[in-house]
Amino acid sequence: MNKALRKAIIAGNWKMNKTRPEAKELIEALKPLVKDASCEVVACVPFTNLETVLAAAEGSNIKVGAQNCHFETSGAFTGEISADMLKEMGVEYVIIGHSERRQYFGETDETVNKRLKAALNAGLKVILCVGEMLADRENGITAELVALQTKIALKDVSAEELKNVVIAYEPVWAIGTGKTATAQQANEVCAIIRGVIESLYGKAAADGITVQYGGSMNAKNAEELVAQPDVDGGLIGGASLKAEDFSVIVKAASNG
Ligand code: PGA
Repeated sequence: MNKALRKAIIAGNWKMNKTRPEAKELIEALKPLVKDASCEVVACVPFTNLETVLAAAEGSNIKVGAQNCHFETSGAFTGEISADMLKEMGVEYVIIGHSERRQYFGETDETVNKRLKAALNAGLKVILCVGEMLADRENGITAELVALQTKIALKDVSAEELKNVVIAYEPVWAIGTGKTATAQQANEVCAIIRGVIESLYGKAAADGITVQYGGSMNAKNAEELVAQPDVDGGLIGGASLKAEDFSVIVKAASNG
């Protein structure tokens, strides 16, 4: 598979971190550090920070994303945010199906599919997260599980719509634990995901789709991970909260 055919994306997932002044400070610190990046740079921030971060990132190469959206366009869904609301603000990306949403907020493969389609319908780009739990890996079902998550999430998504989907392979056991998948493990599963895309959409779609790795990626291990033939950048949690560390990862992906 030809890595040159697709774009690497380094996306920060700030999770439930940063007040508005802190968010502004982080973006201001990041802007000069990543301005020459040849990969795409995205900050996925809490809903409350979107307006602040959109304003701070304006005119820079930092794209702005949210971390979730609801599948309905509007209505009686207390506490939820629709894809249209995000789009109207100028948000470009949204993370869908993060393992923390699946683990703590009852997200299922079916609701991931519904949210993903709603986001695409609204004109957002989606970072779709898939990945196995430690027990799945130990039971030897990583490939089947990740393939299943990918297939269900993409049900009724057209080849044209797929161009606005990025997939992040995030082994749950590696998220926030400091336990990174080895570069070989990361590449292996990213290649499996690409194979699923090929079986569903054909070779050109598989060659073109960005498949990121996520899970304790940091300034030290990023270079080796993003250099893998099937790893097209990363989804970064903890290390995205520090401008210096995040910029080192962006640089690694710009070279890789
Ligand atoms: P981490 O988080 O980099 O802190 O492991 C990654 C993620 O959850 O997207």
